[in-house]
Amino acid sequence: MHEELAAVLAQWPDEQKTVVAGREFCVGHWHGHEVVAVLSRIGKVAAATTATTLIERFGVTRMVFTGVAGGLAPHVHVGDVVVAREFIQHDMDASPLFPRHEIPLTGMTRFPADAALSDALAIAAPVALQALVASLPRTAWLDLDLAAARVHQGLIASGDRFVSKTSESQSLQAELPDALAVEMECAAMAQVCHDYGVPLAAVRTISDRADDAAHVDFPRFIQTIASRYSVAVLDYLLAALPSARLTSTSRAYGSTTSAPRR
Ligand code: ADE
Repeated sequence: MHEELAAVLAQWPDEQKTVVAGREFCVGHWHGHEVVAVLSRIGKVAAATTATTLIERFGVTRMVFTGVAGGLAPHVHVGDVVVAREFIQHDMDASPLFPRHEIPLTGMTRFPADAALSDALAIAAPVALQALVASLPRTAWLDLDLAAARVHQGLIASGDRFVSKTSESQSLQAELPDALAVEMECAAMAQVCHDYGVPLAAVRTISDRADDAAHVDFPRFIQTIASRYSVAVLDYLLAALPSARLTSTSRAYGSTTSAPRR
């Protein structure tokens, strides 16, 4: 989301913008890291193009995605945070040539998130959540008990659909019982990062329950919570990471981070 990216850029002492493939890549520094921030755009192809450009043109060595997602598992609520440990493309189906969900010619149905980067995110996420809860005005989200928000870790499912029907959410849950959340980008970025051997981690704030109320919850959540959360989690992550260079990407309503490669 643009507000999310603007909030990230406000933390940088310097920044240089370069347009590639119609995307504005912002190169700068944050907590001593050389970073590139960009909106990933929405959907798997857009995210794959953004990830490829980050690697090929900006030489990033690590990538972190921040953004929002719909909660799938029953215990994943609006306001919770999910740190990805694995990614799957829930709409991939080349059967009967390949098993359901398998990415053809890779032999893989799931791509792992980078363990070290995800561990660092899993430490930064609850700290950022606490700071966010403390900083929000009480009226920011009248019916959401953010103080009860939790950080989950596990499988994120990506597909080229905004899931806004309870029936669709239920069939996704039946198909992928361990999927915590659904969104539209990360598994595609994970496939690109796997191809290039670039570590990827992702953190998603839950903006809706991917059900019949998803279209109502979504814009409201973006405006009040998501952009503040992304900045906070990246700030803690980069402050804690040993000196290496990171970046920040986002879709129209998400934000990602990665690092230039020498
Ligand atoms: N991102 C946030 N909420 C989503 C949903 N319900 N479906 C797909 N992507 C999302």
